[in-house]
Amino acid sequence: MEKFVIIGGKKLSGEVEISGAKNSVLALMPATLLASGTYKIYNTPDLRDVKTMSQVLIEIGVNVNFENHILTINTENVSKYEAPYELVKKMRASIYVLGPLVGRFGYAKVSLPGGCAWGPRPVDLHIEGIKKLGAEVELDSGYIVARAKKLHGAKIHFDKPSVGATGNVMMASVLAKGITLIENAAKEPEIVQLGEFLISMGAKITGLGTDTIEIEGVDELKPADVTTIPDRIEAGTFLIAGAITGGKVKIKKCNPKHFEAVLLKLEDAGCYLNVGDDFVEIEAPDEIKPVDVTTAVYPGFPTDMQAQWIALMSIANGTSVVTETIFYDRFKHVPELVRLGADIEVNENVAIVRGVRKLKGAKVMSTDLRASASLILAGLVAEGKTEVLRIYHIDRGYERIEEKLQRLGAQIWREKTDEY
Ligand code: UD1
Repeated sequence: MEKFVIIGGKKLSGEVEISGAKNSVLALMPATLLASGTYKIYNTPDLRDVKTMSQVLIEIGVNVNFENHILTINTENVSKYEAPYELVKKMRASIYVLGPLVGRFGYAKVSLPGGCAWGPRPVDLHIEGIKKLGAEVELDSGYIVARAKKLHGAKIHFDKPSVGATGNVMMASVLAKGITLIENAAKEPEIVQLGEFLISMGAKITGLGTDTIEIEGVDELKPADVTTIPDRIEAGTFLIAGAITGGKVKIKKCNPKHFEAVLLKLEDAGCYLNVGDDFVEIEAPDEIKPVDVTTAVYPGFPTDMQAQWIALMSIANGTSVVTETIFYDRFKHVPELVRLGADIEVNENVAIVRGVRKLKGAKVMSTDLRASASLILAGLVAEGKTEVLRIYHIDRGYERIEEKLQRLGAQIWREKTDEY
């Protein structure tokens, strides 16, 4: 096991490059199952989740090679249409192989992901969508087993705009016979990139980035290369690192249009921003103002930034209210932030954050990816030494975060530990 040790109190300054988006590459990788051949995915982040998705693809018979942030994928020898529990339980996004496998090969057996650290997170919308396209789906010993001779187009209306279900249905329907309409579709940039990648492979898709996506099935797709978009959540996390430490940080190689909601909230908190086409400079004010946030689907404030926002608000000059509307019980970071001296109360899906003058270093435990990020942020400003345990969570979605933070002047390092 490893932990992070952080000595708080350093104002961060300097520049940092943002890596490719985890949630984009995790959708692009399974999309390669839709056509036989070789693909290159450029700007692939070096993350544990990318390794897990690679293992899922390797199980299916795909050849995967990762070098210099280029992922080379060869799908000529796909031989098995299954994603086992051992891999799916590590990473829910493994369910993304369901759509392309049943769409192209007419069969998929994918483990149910089960719960996660912040609640049950169902997959009913994925299953309903695939069924509407004509697949027979049964649940067997913890597995989703989907069969179809040939999928056909259908009108699918999601009760909720789900990122994963939109991606899965889009991948299932590109080879189906006829037209598929996805209503109340997800509009996240990662879904738009997935759709554009499928179009570059020969798919016919319109309406990306809107509520309604239309897909006209084609007979065959061909491989294509793609460059992963920058990670908007990593970008937001580093901006908050600048803000929370009272520093001045420039994030580069990002797409500020993808995190406008976060930028607006940072301005409301009193931060000075200079926004370019592919960079943002942030300068922290003397005092962070309290700002309420309600998470929402894109282009709203992302749930994946909620934990980091609570960390920032925990040292604001006043009380703020943070409402979580996507995953109601995603507050596992709160008790750990309280251990660092934060004053936060959670009632159902609402956190009331009363800003304190100082946080104080302590031992804390990561429970999930974004919770870990919030603990690191709090540790950067806390007085004295903070130790963050179970950091394998952070390696799922941030590429060598401690090295990037060190380059900005943070005192943070990784240590081996027996503590769990
Ligand atoms: C994706 C992101 C995750 C992000 C989330 C919301 C990836 C790999 N992960 O997760 O980082 O936090 O979007 O932006 O891209 N739901 C159902 N039934 C379903 C599917 C979802 O009820 O079958 C609900 C969920 O419980 C949640 C809401 O829909 O309340 C949105 O979840 P969804 O967009 O599907 O999240 P993921 O795709 O799992």
